[in-house]
Amino acid sequence: MQEPPMQKEAVAIDGSRLAESVKAAVREEIHALGKSPSLAVILVGSNPASKVYVERKEVACGEVGIISQEYRLEESVPEEALLSLIRELNENRGINGILVQLPLPQHINEGRVIAAIHPKKDVDGLHPANMGKLLRGEEGMLPCTPKGIIRMLESTGVALAGKRAVVVGRSSIVGKPAALLLLRKDMAVTLCHSKMQSLGRITGEADVLVVAVGKPMLITAEMVKEGAVVIDVGVNRTEDRTRKSGYRICGDVDFDRVKYRAAYLSPVPGGVGPMTVAMLMENVLSAYKDQNGIRDENG
Ligand code: GUN
Repeated sequence: MQEPPMQKEAVAIDGSRLAESVKAAVREEIHALGKSPSLAVILVGSNPASKVYVERKEVACGEVGIISQEYRLEESVPEEALLSLIRELNENRGINGILVQLPLPQHINEGRVIAAIHPKKDVDGLHPANMGKLLRGEEGMLPCTPKGIIRMLESTGVALAGKRAVVVGRSSIVGKPAALLLLRKDMAVTLCHSKMQSLGRITGEADVLVVAVGKPMLITAEMVKEGAVVIDVGVNRTEDRTRKSGYRICGDVDFDRVKYRAAYLSPVPGGVGPMTVAMLMENVLSAYKDQNGIRDENG
């Protein structure tokens, strides 16, 4: 009996490996500088996911030679106390980057907090001045996740210019900046969101598909163009009784089926997550260089 033909599988975009090489380059550059950049990490409250993210960022700092200083504030901290800490850190010449882990508690205005960070110390690239530069196509601090997404796309070697990109998710941290960066790559960009009708018709035309919604199995195989490059930014916890922990982490894409349609596909975990952290390390180094009058070739 004849064997059925083997189905071709997508190449997994290994974000962990890529992140290691980015961090190695940052580490080398810091070593050559002979000085340690420093990052202030502010964590408000005790959101378990935020704690994990902050920990990962601090571990990465240690790996590359960045000094990280953690500021833990109570969930109930008044907004003014947080703003006053940020102002202090803005003035502190020993601090090169300030990161306020999001989300913040309900009673704190996120926009006001981000706007209080000095744009040159805004290593998350979320300050309105940096967002404005991104919109205008000027050089500025880029948000880490979208910057990492572009690096992952570049790592495939697939030509982007003139092709079609679809971004699903319109957050200020991922969706909107990712769309602008893809536009910079001369792609024709469509920005979609959860209120979209016939989402699959639009995603099905994407040569590059970036998904950042936070809904498991949102993107099924039928919604993906044959040969597309798919970047899954989702981080979802789903029940899995076969595991000791009782859950597993998955993205927004039905990985096991989409892998038979896409040419390249980023896994969750091990995709965008590690790259976000690596890009933060780059941003802290570039903030240090900017503040010390050292030219930055990486951007
Ligand atoms: N929470 C989720 N993603 C991010 C991020 O990129 N930066 C910060 N500060 N908080 C986040």
